[in-house]
Amino acid sequence: MDIYSLIQKRRSVRKYKDTLVDEEKLQRVLRAGCAAPSWGNRQCWRFVVIRDAAARKRLGVAIADAPFVMEAPIQIVVLAEESDSGIKEGKEYYLADCAIAVSYMMLAAANEGLASCCVTAFSENAVRNALMVPQDKKVAAILPLGYADETPAPTPRRRQSETVFYDTWVNDA
Ligand SMILES: Cc1cc2nc3c(=O)[nH]c(=O)nc-3n(C[C@H](O)[C@H](O)[C@H](O)COP(=O)(O)O)c2cc1C
Repeated sequence: MDIYSLIQKRRSVRKYKDTLVDEEKLQRVLRAGCAAPSWGNRQCWRFVVIRDAAARKRLGVAIADAPFVMEAPIQIVVLAEESDSGIKEGKEYYLADCAIAVSYMMLAAANEGLASCCVTAFSENAVRNALMVPQDKKVAAILPLGYADETPAPTPRRRQSETVFYDTWVNDA
């Protein structure tokens, strides 16, 4: 599928089948994440792939407020090695790095016929403890990955004319 169609087709999915995901598909999605651009090409992200029963149980307890995430057969927990990214004018770029990697993985997943959702509503400490992540790493997002068991309607977007400005902030379009 061409990139523009993929971008329009991707949805955040919050209901998953328990159908397993082929290893090759998973690896292609992870490769897409690793190919993302990053601050100084430092690639501060680290991906913890959750598959086995014990890890799933620990993560499930840590993110009990978002149970749909554990419906998917795979969760990719996106960690950041914060010191591998940059801070400029108070802006910490590890979140941007990780968000771009997540975007690449979501689009790759859509290309594989897989569903996903970028999830950030969790207790970072709870996830860190569940996965034995050291304190110096951030937990940026969790990406459930699997086959959709729902067909979400497209979510609305602000009009392009309200969003895009040319040459100055003033927009008479
Ligand atoms: C940075 C970020 C954090 C998000 N966190 C959550 C979350 O914690 N839980 C959730 O259900 N969806 C989360 N989402 C998904 C958004 O709600 C979703 O992208 C938005 O409503 C647009 O819908 P769409 O992705 O289907 O186009 C997050 C998305 C982004 C980009």
